[in-house]
Formats: sequence, C-alpha cells, structure tokens
Amino acid sequence: MDFPQNFLRFLVSASRVAILTGAGVSQESGLKTFRDAQTGLWAQYKPEDLASPEAFVRDPKLVWDWYAWRREAIKGARPNPGHYALVEMEKRIPEFTLITQNVDGLHRFAGSQNVLELHGNIQKVRCSQCGTFAETWDDDSESVPACEICGGALRPDVVWFGESLPRDGLESAVNASRSCQVFFSIGTSGVVQPAAALAHAARNNGSVVVEINAEPTPLTPTVDFAFHGKSGVILPELVRAVWNS
Ligand code: APR
Repeated sequence: MDFPQNFLRFLVSASRVAILTGAGVSQESGLKTFRDAQTGLWAQYKPEDLASPEAFVRDPKLVWDWYAWRREAIKGARPNPGHYALVEMEKRIPEFTLITQNVDGLHRFAGSQNVLELHGNIQKVRCSQCGTFAETWDDDSESVPACEICGGALRPDVVWFGESLPRDGLESAVNASRSCQVFFSIGTSGVVQPAAALAHAARNNGSVVVEINAEPTPLTPTVDFAFHGKSGVILPELVRAVWNS
C-alpha cells in the first residue's frame, strides 16, 4: 500500500495517538465480525436478539449458551499481524490509547498495554444480581451457573444493547479522542454509538482522522485519510513505512 508522504511524516512525529478498533481487526484471526451472519445453530438469531438484558430475562440459558459458544470459538483464535502491528505502534508513540469495541481480548493477548475495552470482555463473567465476578464457571452446565455469593444468574461481563458503557472507560476514550493528534478508526462499521462519536470528537479537536477498513463506511467521507483493505495487511505495512520495522 502506498501511503502519502505527508501522512507518514506527520505520523512519525506524532506523540499522541488514539485508535478505535472493531470486529474487523479480529476477522483475520478467524472470528466473524459482529454483523456477519451468525453461523450454524445461531444463524436464526440476530446478535441484537441475544445480546440484550431483555433476551437474558426472556431466556437466560439461550443467551448463556451463545456466549459459551463464542468463548469456545475465541479459544482457538490468535492475534493476527494487525494486532501485533498495533503493539509495535504503542512502543513508538508516547501517548497511545487503544480503544476497542471488541470483547475477544485479542489486543491484550497480543501485548497491547493501554487498552480500553469499551464493550467489556467476553472472557469475564459476573453475577447479574450482585455484580461479583466469578473466578470459575461451567460453560456446559445444564442451567445458567449461579453466583456463589448470592445465587443470582451469572452473565458475561459485556455491554449489551440498551446498556450503558462503563463510565470510566468511556470517559478515558473521549478524553483520548479529544486530545490526540491522530485518530485511527480500524475495522469498524462506525455505526454504533457512542464509539462512532469518538472519530467526530477527534475531528472537532483538529486531529488527523484515518480510517483503515475492508470497505467504505459512513465515516469515510469525513476522514482525512482512508485506506481500504485488510487491517492485518495494511497495519504491518504502515508500521514498516513509518518506523522501518
Ligand atoms: N480488515 C479490516 N476491516 C475489516 C476486515 C478486515 N480483515 N474484515 C471486516 N472488516 C470490516 C467490515 O467491512 C466492517 O465495516 O470491519 C467492520 C466490522 O463492522 P461490524 O461487523 O459492524 O463490527 P463493529 O463495527 O465492531 O460493531 C461495533 O456494534 O453491535 C455492536 O457491540 C457490538 O462491538 C460491536 C459494535
């Protein structure tokens, strides 16, 4: 990929960078993006019909089994070159904030340090009543596992549709977006709020906004640079072009 020289010169001198990632950065790790059709048993459901408090009240076991299935799918997934390129970028940029909508934990697995998991982490499970985090649980149990403290139903520690995001994570994400010199939107369709608003907060702050995505999104017309293709290919090429590594 040919990167504009002015873009490379600006990035190599940048000291404050914020990155927003979505399901697209994990696609090359073999994980379906959020809006890809569900497969197999789950093809009959839309994520929105499973990832919500109403769905959990209506049929807690169905929701529990969907997340247990997704945890199983993630078990075999490994970070891809796009995740590792972001680890390299973090080593070279003084103030680097990685904001992710992904709940698969692959950024931390790859070695990224300053990660804000806006939508939570599927590998963590907490009580739906008292909020206590469970150390262990049985993904294959006949019924939804119960909290050892209060007996409430356990649930994944992810943000469901209709739920508010963890305040401290969102605040840090907004602050990073407002103070960065360069904001990257990578592998996200940019349609879900409030994550989609972060790019606008960056632009309003005068940051250079960059999109790296397999296809154009509603954000594309508003960004300074758009690179369309696989993030697992583009990001390593960008790191080599900027830092020759
Ligand atoms: N490289 C770069 N981009 C890719 C790749 C790839 N290899 N594969 C897919 N994409 C792009 C798709 O073109 C799409 O625009 O990644 C984007 C993924 O978009 P979504 O499936 O909408 O996922 P995401 O943007 O992460 O969804 C955001 O919405 O439903 C909520 O909480 C859920 O975190 C999710 C949020």
